Amino acid sequence: MNSPQVPQNAETALAQRLQAHEPLLWRNPALASARHTLAEVAAAHAIGLADIEAADALLRRWGPALVRAFPELAATGGVIESPLIELADARPVTGVEIKGRSLIKADHALPVAGSIKARGGIYEVLAHAEDLAVKSGLIAPGGDPLELVSATARELFAQYTVAVGSTGNLGLSIGVMASALGFHAVVHMSHDAKQWKKDRLRKRGVEVVEHTGDYAAAVAAGRAAAAASDRSYFVDDENSRNLFLGYAVAALRLKNQLAELDIAVDADHPLVAFLPCGVGGAPGGITFGLKHVFGDAAHCYFAEPCASPAMLVRLASNTGPKSVYDIGLDNRTEADGLAVGEASELVYQLVRELVSGVYTVADDALFTALARLRQTSGIEIEPSAAACFAGARWLDETLSDNPNATHLFWTTGGSFVPAEEYEKFYRRGCELLART
Ligand SMILES: Cc1ncc(COP(=O)(O)O)c(C=O)c1O
Repeated sequence: MNSPQVPQNAETALAQRLQAHEPLLWRNPALASARHTLAEVAAAHAIGLADIEAADALLRRWGPALVRAFPELAATGGVIESPLIELADARPVTGVEIKGRSLIKADHALPVAGSIKARGGIYEVLAHAEDLAVKSGLIAPGGDPLELVSATARELFAQYTVAVGSTGNLGLSIGVMASALGFHAVVHMSHDAKQWKKDRLRKRGVEVVEHTGDYAAAVAAGRAAAAASDRSYFVDDENSRNLFLGYAVAALRLKNQLAELDIAVDADHPLVAFLPCGVGGAPGGITFGLKHVFGDAAHCYFAEPCASPAMLVRLASNTGPKSVYDIGLDNRTEADGLAVGEASELVYQLVRELVSGVYTVADDALFTALARLRQTSGIEIEPSAAACFAGARWLDETLSDNPNATHLFWTTGGSFVPAEEYEKFYRRGCELLART
């Protein structure tokens, strides 16, 4: 693979701009051909399309069992998926004119967990439950997951803990799924986590442990607590291959959704994805999936808050892992889901040559985009998700002026935000808009 990219003085200049909280686009000089890179990643990390397809197959196998646990999934046979929504006039939300088609990938409306974290989180819990049931002799390998929503299975799972560290949304997804199967679920929350997310989990019987530290501290505390028990399984957001694969499945689903809309993706019809990024698992997994499905026709941009550009700092680092604190940022942002100081090293290794670029977003821009989106389309999202819309302004002409391009704004969370919380976000956005 290409090795480090940015000369030292360029890295320093970039650090200065990031320190100044300047919204910017960083183009990835290591971006390489998808085919070549994916082959190298497969050889080095033993991960590829077959693994994504296997994850999709497991999720589909679980469909009837999921319908039993979550009746709201009956209409889709237990498949947890979000719609693609046409954004007829993107300009008021993005602030710039772009040619081609603009679509919202509406993960804010994903059932069960209300965010993109449903994808990886639910896959990892189901894979673990199946594994445990096979090891305990409850089902044979490849057996029917319907048996895993039985009273006998609940008795088994009740003896085990599933734990996670989170800024909120991953905790919701793991907590809801693990407790639905009967596990003792423990969610370690960082200081950024919103109160309503903790309340919602506690109502479901999930144990919520509140930490005064940031996301990395909550993950470390959860990891240590789980390591002390051989009946605890820790979903490790910083290092999990299964979370990554669960997110990557989205690309297979998207391929079918685009085909249903007769939207071509190829060298003459680029697909541009704008992906809010925290530790990197969700946008990284999706990028990995999109590159497998669409190759170089997929252009993936990550969106990070000005105070928390963890993946940008990692991608641009010449000297190995680095956190946003190392360059003098405080990782304080209203985008709670993206408030991460240090990127996942695993995800970095897997996607460092696949990401086209990373842009940073000021918190105010999250609120104005969120308000504009509701005013123009009635869609309500949380601040983290609104980061996707700030990317259009950075596109070069080959993508922004291309009538054949499809722009995909991945709205990653929001439908579970209580109405009174959302109103506060919306009012803040309206006040900012009134001042401009
Ligand atoms: C709403 C929302 N969007 C995006 C992300 C980013 O996902 P990741 O942390 O896997 O990069 C998160 C993470 O919690 C989130 O809650």
